[in-house]
Amino acid sequence: MVKRIGVLTSGGDAPGMNAAIRAVTRVALNSGIEVYGVYDGYKGMVEGYIEPLTKSGVGDIIDRGGTILGSARLPEFKDESVRAKAVEQLKKRGIEAIVVIGGDGSYRGAQALTDMGINCIGLPGTIDNDITSTDFTIGFDTALRTIVDAVDKLRDTSSSHHRCSVVEVMGNRCGDLAIWAGIACGAEIVCTSETGFEESEILERLRDLDVIRKKRHAIVIISEKMTDVHQFARKVSLNTGFSGRATVLGHVQRGGSPTPSDRVLASRMGEKAVDLLMQGIGGQCVGIKNNRIISTPIEEALNIPRASRKQLQNLFDRLV
Ligand code: F6P
Repeated sequence: MVKRIGVLTSGGDAPGMNAAIRAVTRVALNSGIEVYGVYDGYKGMVEGYIEPLTKSGVGDIIDRGGTILGSARLPEFKDESVRAKAVEQLKKRGIEAIVVIGGDGSYRGAQALTDMGINCIGLPGTIDNDITSTDFTIGFDTALRTIVDAVDKLRDTSSSHHRCSVVEVMGNRCGDLAIWAGIACGAEIVCTSETGFEESEILERLRDLDVIRKKRHAIVIISEKMTDVHQFARKVSLNTGFSGRATVLGHVQRGGSPTPSDRVLASRMGEKAVDLLMQGIGGQCVGIKNNRIISTPIEEALNIPRASRKQLQNLFDRLV
């Protein structure tokens, strides 16, 4: 059976990563497996920035945002010679397997390492909820709560001033944060990669909300990378009765103490990762489907198309 494993966080950080590190470490140690923390993602693996983790070392972190292991993006990890250096660092320390907490880019690295003889299990750690092999990713719920808090506040001031708040949220081309926030905040308009961004149509709808519905405010939530929200807010001021103001929520969405849901999800997934490694399984990623913790081969997971969010969008439209 596997005797020594490593754990790392990679890509954009997400609240709940610490809870996952804690779960992996404690479940493994309680099963007689030693655990090493690999710092700064694959970069630290290549450079040998690797230290043992203890039960107390992962204490007092379940409620902390960010990742105690640090994170980085290392595009060079695609290069086999770079990965060979990483494998050497692991072998030198007797580390036989790794739990990789990150997004789909990190999963590719995990599969490549598995192919080189280091069993890896991926855990979905990203606020974007853009990993199609799981219903929810670790960090999504917390980021959503952050967005909802912010938009609720924006609504207060928008109503006072007869304004339209144009709010840009993250998602990396996945509209989940936007549509979930739209429903939870009672926004007037949501734009995602699925709905598209039809400027003239949106301005027309805003005019209706002002003139016909006599709304005191309007909230427009837009997924990042769709349009320049500052420019759009100016057009709102010029073409509707609202004055437009843009807010880019940005990296605020990535921070903060994880919600109970994210902490529990991370703990359940961390446990599953260790169980898989104990069975000698690698090249899989953990997910949650219909509230059951599952695992899927990474190769397969990376090719699952994103399910349509039409139902959520329809619900949103019926609530406006
Ligand atoms: O994947 C997480 C994420 O926060 C995306 O939502 C966003 O597009 C991206 O990372 C931002 O990356 P960076 O932190 O490198 O600016």
